[in-house]
Amino acid sequence: MRRAAPCAVRGLTALCGAGALLAAGHVGRAQDVSGGGPAQAALSAEGGQIYKDICQACHLADAKGGGGAGAVIPALAGNPRLADAGYTVGVVVKGRAGMPWFHDMLTPREIAAVVNHVRTHFNDFPGEVSEAEVVAAIAASGVASPD
Ligand code: HEC
Repeated sequence: MRRAAPCAVRGLTALCGAGALLAAGHVGRAQDVSGGGPAQAALSAEGGQIYKDICQACHLADAKGGGGAGAVIPALAGNPRLADAGYTVGVVVKGRAGMPWFHDMLTPREIAAVVNHVRTHFNDFPGEVSEAEVVAAIAASGVASPD
């Protein structure tokens, strides 16, 4: 079963409708096909939507970051730190300073999707992150699982 990803995010219900509509557009195709290729494509589209719904508010649409003195948002585009997939997953799972954590807002699948999006769409780093790797990172980090 496929769920409407952005609706899982508490406090962002205004964005939920748009995300659900988009997700609904993918349902037919995602269920009609099997195998890695199309499934990966669906996951990639899901990551792009999550980025637009959540991350873009801070990191901006072009992922170049921004902010004035005292409120600097790092660029994700062309950011060599994102070459380390585990590091990227860790920041999104646990948060850091002004960066919110998402382990209790997004599912592991959604975290994998958005991490893959920022690592491949705004950069060209190899190595897709799987849902299972995010589950393992959450377990290893000791943060509470979603309620
Ligand atoms: C409320 C604003 C905000 C939102 C929303 C947000 N971020 Fe961030 N993000 C930040 C800030 C601020 C930092 C820098 C944290 C620090 O100082 O260590 C950051 C850092 C990061 C880093 C580490 C960059 C580096 O150079 O180490 C990654 C990766 C990242 N964010 C990804 C995401 C993703 C993916 C999303 C969406 C799921 C997201 N962020 C949503 C504010 C935000």
